[in-house]
Amino acid sequence: MRLVFPAFLLAAVVCFASENNSARRLKNVFKDDFHIGAAVNRSQIYGRAPKAGVLLAEQFSSITPENVMKWSSIHPKPDEYNFEPADKYASIGEENSMFVAGHTLIWHNQTPDWVFENADGSEVSRKELLKRMREHIFKVAGRYKGRVHGWDVVNEAIEDDGSLRNTKWREIIGDDYIAKAFEYAHQAAPDAELYYNDYNMYRSEKRKAAAELAEKLQSRGLRIDGIGIQGHWGLNHPSAAEIQKSIDAFSSLGLKVMITELDLTVLPSAWEHRGADISQNYELRKEINPFPDGLPANMQRKLSNRYQQLFALFTRNSGKISRVTFWGVHDGCSWRNNWPVSGRTDYPLLFNRNCEPKRAFNEVVKAGRK
Ligand code: XIL
Repeated sequence: MRLVFPAFLLAAVVCFASENNSARRLKNVFKDDFHIGAAVNRSQIYGRAPKAGVLLAEQFSSITPENVMKWSSIHPKPDEYNFEPADKYASIGEENSMFVAGHTLIWHNQTPDWVFENADGSEVSRKELLKRMREHIFKVAGRYKGRVHGWDVVNEAIEDDGSLRNTKWREIIGDDYIAKAFEYAHQAAPDAELYYNDYNMYRSEKRKAAAELAEKLQSRGLRIDGIGIQGHWGLNHPSAAEIQKSIDAFSSLGLKVMITELDLTVLPSAWEHRGADISQNYELRKEINPFPDGLPANMQRKLSNRYQQLFALFTRNSGKISRVTFWGVHDGCSWRNNWPVSGRTDYPLLFNRNCEPKRAFNEVVKAGRK
């Protein structure tokens, strides 16, 4: 009898703790709303970042490969594919029953020059480039058939003013390179969802152009399932109203909307401090890297408020949004530390450099419970 009370108490504590724990996992908090994802980098894929690995499994229901499925990584030379990191990436998703995203089949960045060149260095023909595109998509999307659930087929094809970006793809093949990429991706992986993904989608010209692009694909009878809105945003921009407009514009076409690369820089804009006076360089660098030793409380508060605002917006739109993916697991591995200026210390995510939840994490969880 003496044991009964403590055992009961213990059970209650354990039960409370695990419930409490589960209520602090993003993937549980938002399970009825949308997938919560994170981009994973190479060292996380190879298990060299154990704390980040634990966070990934506990908090996220989806993953995106930060770099390992990009052309230069997965297909570095004409006859050389490097599938090992991508295979491991897909396995992590399977082991954790995650929605596994593929990023990205056709892009102008992180694509080797040889793709566009003949052996003698001259430019390839339209026919040859289409052949190379088809082969790449069949090899990559085909290999992960049934394992990658959705592909960013074309990334960043539109300029801020709404015109098509002049890339080698467009120059050599013509405007229909986008349609061709979607056509091949569907042939290679018929069950995968297919997306168009881009940044600055809050700008009206760009939003309009992305919607028109999707409509054009739809009218040709091509498969497109969704549009990814990259969320490389800041504390004050873009406004919730602008984001709402993009969510509405894309979902009104019957497309899923995804916030694909969410991170909120807390650093001052580098461009405003650009000057030609070399002697000012040190001072300027300090100005654009103001928090090398930690984020002050008032900035933590600003970041939390902004995250709270955004997740309130996302949950209000949960019928339209299928996934919200952070571009990185924790602040220490965020590309924002090196972009647009390298070597700064930024704090754009929900977990700090020690993989601990930040105040912003608590706000996001609260926003999700409402
Ligand atoms: C970035 C990665 O985070 C960096 O590690 C890499 O050096 C450059 O690319 N838009 C995209 C992503 O679609 O693939 C980019 O990722 C960030 C901008």
